[in-house]
Amino acid sequence: MKEPLPEEEPEEMTLRPRHMDDFIGQDELKERLTILIEAARQRGESVDHVLFSGPPGLGKTSLAGILAVEMGAHFQATSGPALERPGDLAAVITNLERGDVLFIDEIHRLPRQVEEVLYPAMEDFQLDIVVGKGPAARSIRLDLPPFTLVGATTRVGRVAPPLRDRFGYVARLDYYNTADLGRIVTRSAAILDVEVTADGADTVSLRSRGTPRIANRLLRRVRDFAAVRSDGVVDGETALKALEVFEVDEAGLDKVDRAILDAIIVKFAGGPVGLSTLAIAVGEEPETVEDAYEPFLLQEGFIQRTPRGRVATGHAYTHMGLEPPGVEQGTLIP
Ligand SMILES: Nc1ncnc2c1ncn2[C@@H]1O[C@H](COP(=O)(O)OP(=O)(O)OP(=O)(O)O)[C@@H](O)[C@H]1O
Ligand SMILES: [Mg+2]
Repeated sequence: MKEPLPEEEPEEMTLRPRHMDDFIGQDELKERLTILIEAARQRGESVDHVLFSGPPGLGKTSLAGILAVEMGAHFQATSGPALERPGDLAAVITNLERGDVLFIDEIHRLPRQVEEVLYPAMEDFQLDIVVGKGPAARSIRLDLPPFTLVGATTRVGRVAPPLRDRFGYVARLDYYNTADLGRIVTRSAAILDVEVTADGADTVSLRSRGTPRIANRLLRRVRDFAAVRSDGVVDGETALKALEVFEVDEAGLDKVDRAILDAIIVKFAGGPVGLSTLAIAVGEEPETVEDAYEPFLLQEGFIQRTPRGRVATGHAYTHMGLEPPGVEQGTLIP
C-alpha cells in the first residue's frame, strides 16, 4: 500500500506503524493477532479472515497493513463503496495471489449483491460470476487461491450477520489510554524530528480523545506553533498555548464537539434531539456526527442517547460553562 488515503496528510503515511512492534497499545488484540499470524505461518497457510471494528483513527487500516507485512503477503486495498457491482469485486479478487491480503475498508457499505459474491469467496475460495447477458447469460465458477480478507468498519452493527460470521476473528479497537497515547506521540515526534518533553507529550495525549490519529495531528500543529512562536521544543506550556490557538480544549473537544454540545443545550434546550436535526444544526453529515463525534462524547459522559434522541448531561453544561438545569426540573442526567 504505497498510496496515501485521500484524507491523509502525507506525513500520516510516515507515521503509520508498519510492523507489529511499532504498533503501540491494544495489547490483548495484538497478542491474539500475533497468535493467528504465527499459527498460520507454522501451517504454511493464509491467515483466517479478520474484521476490525472501532471508531475512526484507532489503527484499523494500520493493523491490516501490518498483518500483510508480517505474513510477507501482498496488500490490496479497496472499500465497500468502491465495489458497486459484483464485477468490481470479481476484478479485484481474481487478481489475488496465494496468501494475499485483501483489505476492504468501510465493509458495512458493501452493496448486498456484492456481499453475496463475497460469501463463497471467503468460505470456499470460489467465485461465481455471471458472464453474458439475456438468454445467453450463464454462471461460471472460478477457483481462487487462498487469501485473507481483512475488513474494517466503524459500524460493526451495520455489518450483515452472515458476513460477520464468515470472519474467523472479529477484533474491536478501543480508545487508547493516555500512557499509550504518550508513547505514540513520542514515537511520532522522533520520526518527525521534533523535540518533545515528557510534559509536552502528556499535554498532547490528554487532549487527543483517545485517538492516535488525533494525537498525531495535534502533535503536528503543536510542532508548527513551537517552530513559529518559540524555540521549536514542544514542552507542556508551548503545547497548551498551541492547543488553545487551535481551539482544542482541556477535555480534547474541538470546535465541532463544542458546537454539538452547544446546539443540544442552547438550541434544543438540553434535548432530546434527533441525529439528523442535530447534524443540520452543526453543519455536518449525520454519519460524521454519529461515527466521528458521538462515540467520544458518549464515552466521556457529555451526552446520552435515549430512544427520543440525544440529550446533554450535567457534565456537558458544566464543561460549557453553563449552569445545569435543576434535576427536579426535568429529565436531566447528572
Ligand atoms: N497503535 C498505534 N501506534 C502508533 N500509531 C498509530 C496506532 N494506531 C494508529 N496510529 C496512527 O494513527 C493513524 C490512523 O490510524 P489508521 O488509519 O490505521 O486508523 P483507522 O482505524 O483505519 O481509521 P479510519 O476508521 O478513519 O479508517 C495512523 O496513520 C498512525 O499514524
Ligand atoms: Mg482506515
